[in-house]
Amino acid sequence: SRAIKIAPSILSADFANFGAECEAIEAQGCDWVHVDVMDGHFVPNITFGPSTCAAIRKHIKGVMDVHLMIAPVDPYIEAFASAGADVITAHLEAGPHIHRTLQAIRASGAKAGLALNPGTGIESVAHLLDMVDLICVMTVNPGFGGQKFIHSQVDKVRSLRAMIGDRPIHIEIDGGVTVETAPLVAAAGADVLVAGSAVFKGGSVGNPAPYGENIRAI
Ligand code: DX5
Ligand code: ZN
Repeated sequence: SRAIKIAPSILSADFANFGAECEAIEAQGCDWVHVDVMDGHFVPNITFGPSTCAAIRKHIKGVMDVHLMIAPVDPYIEAFASAGADVITAHLEAGPHIHRTLQAIRASGAKAGLALNPGTGIESVAHLLDMVDLICVMTVNPGFGGQKFIHSQVDKVRSLRAMIGDRPIHIEIDGGVTVETAPLVAAAGADVLVAGSAVFKGGSVGNPAPYGENIRAI
């Protein structure tokens, strides 16, 4: 069985304390830090952009995993790469030229991630397997933390892992990951689990121990 990485989403952190929150989750044993960028256009919510990512970067020792829920993507890739993103994930649904977008992400020096909304099938991914380092299967409709896991996506993860074969591509799950749903997607072949509300519940920068307990429970 493969090693599972936990990537807490700072969408559920204290937005006035991102630096301390990132240090707290790393100290509590997370693997990656997942950073959700939303533009109020591709998704019905707004978070922050590259300058906030650059500020957060100084407080993360490990992998900064930047999930772009924005359209268009291409004009901003260089800015997120310069901000220190290790992984930049763009949505298949965000524009007509995902192949070009993935090329541009790799050219920026970042690892290339491809995200799929719950309504999107995996057929198009077959033509992009040599372009991606990570495929993110959204298990909620993107835009908000704390939503309910969409169970129909588990079969999609299983099919995707079969399609990937022995290629070195991560399958990341984003949305509704809990103690109950994590084993389902891990068994189906996922190896990076994003979790926002399930990691940050019960804790704070002043009381970070619950973050560690939550990470170990997932
Ligand atoms: C949703 C975001 C997720 C979100 C997950 O649009 O991409 O990363 O923060 O939150 P939970 O784990 O609470 O579903
Ligand atoms: Zn995300």
